[in-house]
Amino acid sequence: MMNKWIFVGILAVFGASAAVADAMPSKAQACVACHGQTGVSTNPQWPDLAGQHARYLAIQLTAFRDGSRSNPAMAPFVAALTDADITELAAWYSAQQPATAANGDAALVASGENLSGYCKACHGMSGVPVAQDWPILAGQHAQYLQKQLAAYKSGERINPLMQAAIAHLGDAQFEALAAYYSQLAP
Ligand code: HEC
Ligand code: HEC
Repeated sequence: MMNKWIFVGILAVFGASAAVADAMPSKAQACVACHGQTGVSTNPQWPDLAGQHARYLAIQLTAFRDGSRSNPAMAPFVAALTDADITELAAWYSAQQPATAANGDAALVASGENLSGYCKACHGMSGVPVAQDWPILAGQHAQYLQKQLAAYKSGERINPLMQAAIAHLGDAQFEALAAYYSQLAP
């Protein structure tokens, strides 16, 4: 008798939390066209958001909103977001099931791994950093990663830690690093 009620209680708890996790915030409808139904994008130029650290996502959305990170595709969709919207969107995407893009040049993975020693200090041993405000790289689209590395290098995207970390590298290394990180399981 007792056991039966405990079982019912567990079902009720899991049922409720699944319903909360599944409910897409209404503001995320506008993101589906590029970032997919659950934050896994089909275009390798558009980043996956699923499973990414919530704090990192919130920092980036705030940066797009205030213009300190600029991108013509993203800008119109973040201008009207409130801080509460950003917190809700970041938490929801972070709770979605991540994917492994594995869409980089397979022949470059080993050389990317050889170049990744310094990156591990911040992005973790396998592309998943402990710090919640730093991005998970594991499984992210290779083309997107490569484009971001080039953007830090050119100064189009500004972050002192990243700009220092890649200052000595160029396009060939970026392609290899992107290939390596895209095939790690997040
Ligand atoms: C028209 C396509 C498009 C739409 C719609 C769109 N995005 Fe994006 N998003 C992009 C692109 C392209 C980038 C990469 C920009 C760059 O290269 O810096 C991006 C980047 C991001 C990033 C940064 C991810 C990272 O790893 O740094 C976040 C977070 C994000 N989008 C969230 C959203 C949210 C939330 C919405 C809806 C409110 C949204 N996007 C709507 C195209 C789009
Ligand atoms: C000292 C810490 C540090 C080191 C070392 C470092 N990173 Fe980063 N990385 C960061 C931080 C912090 C960010 C977020 C910066 C921002 O807000 O734009 C970031 C962002 C990134 C992004 C953008 C991800 C996205 O979703 O948009 C890529 C790609 C990246 N790092 C790759 C690398 C690679 C490859 C290396 C090694 C060559 C490296 N990082 C070394 C701290 C570091």
